[in-house]
Amino acid sequence: MAVTSFLKLVSVALVASGVRADNSCSGTLNVTSQSDLDGISSCTSYDGDIQVFNSDANTLSLNEVQSISGDLHMFNCTNLGSFQAQSLQTINGTLKLQALTVLDTLSMPQLAEVNSISFTTLPALQELQFNHGVGDAKHIVISDTQLKSLEGLNLSSVSTFNINNNKNIQNITVDAHSISDQLDISYNAAEVSVSLPYLQWASNATFRFCSDVSIPNLENVTSLSFVNNTMKGLKFPKLESIGGDLELSSNSHLSNITFSNVSKIKGGLTIANNTGLRVVSGFDNLESIGGAVNIVGNFSKASFPKLDEVAGGVIIESSGELNCSAFNSAHKNGDFHGDHYVCTGKQKDVSTQLSVASVATNTDKTGKSGGKGASATASGKGSSESSNGAALVGASGSLVGGLLVLLMELI
Ligand SMILES: *[C@@H]1O[C@H](CO)[C@@H](O)[C@H](O)[C@H]1NC(C)=O
Ligand SMILES: *[C@@H]1O[C@H](CO)[C@@H](O)[C@H](O)[C@H]1NC(C)=O
Ligand SMILES: *[C@@H]1O[C@H](CO)[C@@H](O)[C@H](O)[C@H]1NC(C)=O
Ligand SMILES: *[C@@H]1O[C@H](CO)[C@@H](O)[C@H](O)[C@H]1NC(C)=O
Ligand SMILES: *[C@@H]1O[C@H](CO)[C@@H](O)[C@H](O)[C@H]1NC(C)=O
Ligand SMILES: *[C@@H]1O[C@H](CO)[C@@H](O)[C@H](O)[C@H]1NC(C)=O
Ligand SMILES: *[C@@H]1O[C@H](CO)[C@@H](O)[C@H](O)[C@H]1NC(C)=O
Ligand SMILES: *[C@@H]1O[C@H](CO)[C@@H](O)[C@H](O)[C@H]1NC(C)=O
Ligand SMILES: *[C@@H]1O[C@H](CO)[C@@H](O)[C@H](O)[C@H]1NC(C)=O
Ligand SMILES: *[C@@H]1O[C@H](CO)[C@@H](O)[C@H](O)[C@H]1NC(C)=O
Ligand SMILES: *[C@@H]1O[C@H](CO)[C@@H](O)[C@H](O)[C@H]1NC(C)=O
Ligand SMILES: *[C@@H]1O[C@H](CO)[C@@H](O)[C@H](O)[C@H]1NC(C)=O
Repeated sequence: MAVTSFLKLVSVALVASGVRADNSCSGTLNVTSQSDLDGISSCTSYDGDIQVFNSDANTLSLNEVQSISGDLHMFNCTNLGSFQAQSLQTINGTLKLQALTVLDTLSMPQLAEVNSISFTTLPALQELQFNHGVGDAKHIVISDTQLKSLEGLNLSSVSTFNINNNKNIQNITVDAHSISDQLDISYNAAEVSVSLPYLQWASNATFRFCSDVSIPNLENVTSLSFVNNTMKGLKFPKLESIGGDLELSSNSHLSNITFSNVSKIKGGLTIANNTGLRVVSGFDNLESIGGAVNIVGNFSKASFPKLDEVAGGVIIESSGELNCSAFNSAHKNGDFHGDHYVCTGKQKDVSTQLSVASVATNTDKTGKSGGKGASATASGKGSSESSNGAALVGASGSLVGGLLVLLMELI
């Protein structure tokens, strides 16, 4: 009797001091050594979180456990080179690995289901030994690792997909059909090639420092941004609607863009500082832009054959030989509703290299024409401003009401 009370007391004291008194298969398990993991080797499923931290161990292995109802979280284990979980199939919560500086082996050959994956600062990790293939993960953040590929992730429908600062990754191929909250691929190896062959819709998509991006089946996207990439072309043949902004900036090799099926950009359009882009075209079906337009660069032609409505201000600045007359006409016709309009471009003039600017601020709204169709008949006006008579190519009688051709072309 006395002995039993004593044991109870010890047990209570152990629990109170945070030490596990039994090998139960539930609760939050803090792991600093292999013996902590051995303590749950009789559990096929573990109900709770497992936290591995402040451990000096070189290798750790989680045996027998097939599912974890919460998270598996590992952090600040500066000597940990290898973590193995040979039987683990399911993590209902997050597989979270942070600041494991020498971890080079992460072996989870049976892992098939995880809700979220969050890997941050794993400078020795080069591959995922997810032999079965992890499907169904909803949130993926992989940052600052040495991973060479994402082989082992087999995703179909994802909320967050954020891959950044992985300097060894050459190839990001994901089979997901949708990415509903965030798609961000930035600052990885400069040569990274991104392929999302099945992706049909995405939110907040951002690409930086990619050498190639292929999303041939993209149909709709909220916002889409390409900044500081090195691809030559961008082609979105099936994209119909852009629910927010479209930005293409500082993509030094970009020379050809195709958004042939986009009729509406609900936010703004920015095309800036793409040093190789001589012709701004590829928007053959674009009719309206819900925000501002900002097109800056060294281009000699900008063509938006169906555009007849811009809700925000318009800035078009070319350091090349751009003729602004068609944009000027569109502005006069009242197709630009914003309170400022600027179009500048060098005129081709061998003797003086004059710079021609057309600037208007706080547009007099009374100057607006009533119907969109007016732009076609008015389109001839602008050409008088042009010494070389730069033609509004295509702005001929073939234009039907409702279409505005903005086509600037040098000779
Ligand atoms: C596990 O570690 C956390 C954080 O240090 C601590 O708050 C908690 O009490 C520990 N739990 C157990 C059961 O030791
Ligand atoms: C990280 O773990 C080491 C032991 O491996 C420990 O000495 C150190 O205090 C821990 N750091 C933090 C921030 O907990
Ligand atoms: C999985 O996680 C969710 C959300 O945290 C929870 O509601 C659910 O009960 C968990 N399922 C299992 C089987 O543990
Ligand atoms: C890219 O990775 C996928 C699978 O991850 C593979 O099928 C494909 O061959 C790789 N492509 C290149 C160019 O390495
Ligand atoms: C990926 O998942 C799909 C179905 O979601 C399946 O058909 C395919 O075989 C899986 N691929 C791999 C490599 O596991
Ligand atoms: C896109 O990002 C913005 C700002 O980062 C955020 O406010 C918005 O909710 C995001 N949209 C979606 C659909 O996640
Ligand atoms: C984009 O596609 C998804 C899936 O088909 C749909 O739920 C969503 O409403 C679409 N958004 C727009 C703006 O068309
Ligand atoms: C990225 O682009 C910005 C302009 O948008 C530029 O100032 C910056 O130098 C570029 N960064 C690199 C590393 O090229
Ligand atoms: C372009 O969009 C229309 C609907 O606006 C659709 O019917 C058509 O199939 C799309 N074309 C392509 C090539 O996807
Ligand atoms: C851009 O590429 C398309 C096909 O992808 C081609 O038809 C078009 O001529 C190219 N435009 C330029 C300016 O190179
Ligand atoms: C384009 O470059 C100019 C000058 O370097 C810079 O001021 C501007 O912010 C850049 N615009 C964008 C959208 O990157
Ligand atoms: C602008 O483009 C023309 C070719 O169209 C090229 O000759 C010129 O060097 C470019 N200027 C700059 C500053 O890149």
